[in-house]
Amino acid sequence: MTMKTQNELKKAVAHAALDYVSPGTVIGIGTGSTVNFFIDALAGRFGKGFSGAVSSSEATRARLEGHGIRVLDLNEVSSLSVYIDGADEITPDLCMIKGGGGALTREKIIAAVAKKFVCIADASKLAPRLGCFPLPLEVLPMARKHVERELARLGGAASLRGNFVTDNGNLILDVRDLQITNPRELETRLNQIAGIVCNGLFALRGADVLLLGEEDGVSVRTPQESA
Ligand code: A5P
Repeated sequence: MTMKTQNELKKAVAHAALDYVSPGTVIGIGTGSTVNFFIDALAGRFGKGFSGAVSSSEATRARLEGHGIRVLDLNEVSSLSVYIDGADEITPDLCMIKGGGGALTREKIIAAVAKKFVCIADASKLAPRLGCFPLPLEVLPMARKHVERELARLGGAASLRGNFVTDNGNLILDVRDLQITNPRELETRLNQIAGIVCNGLFALRGADVLLLGEEDGVSVRTPQESA
């Protein structure tokens, strides 16, 4: 039996996410390779006539506009029916690490507005606990060293993502060695460090639905209580 490739699994979840899109509504769209498959599928299903999307990054904006899909500013909309995005890691209770693509700040803002967060991910992203993937932090350039010291106090080793500037003109620190036993608590704590614009823990507002691409198809998962 031939195994499905990771891209095949990503395409399968991208197509499954179309079921959560109502053509007359404006939706939020994340960033990354899985989302790119979703954008292509969206254009294939609804074409240029799709009502419009709010984008979490300039890369996503370019891909949407390349398909002729209207991109709206978040301030132009009062609600979003759904936000579709990938993740770098996701737990069974649908807490995530995001920001591998560096778009975490706009992603978190759009997720806060959306009624429903649908995460699309291949099976490699599901983890019993967060933390194998280094935690991204978007940081104001002048605060970089301060944030590195604060993270060291929490047991984390922060390193600057090389040759990378976010769409907001800031830096990304990738943090290893954190013990993420309580993602909501850590997210709250990181929110209090001056100079961190946004941290890549999406736990206080996690996903509502996970579409997980597995060898035998796409499974639809909702948050499971953690033990
Ligand atoms: C972007 O900043 C991230 O939050 C992405 O959602 C994440 O990196 C997933 O990307 P892939 O779909 O490329 O794995």
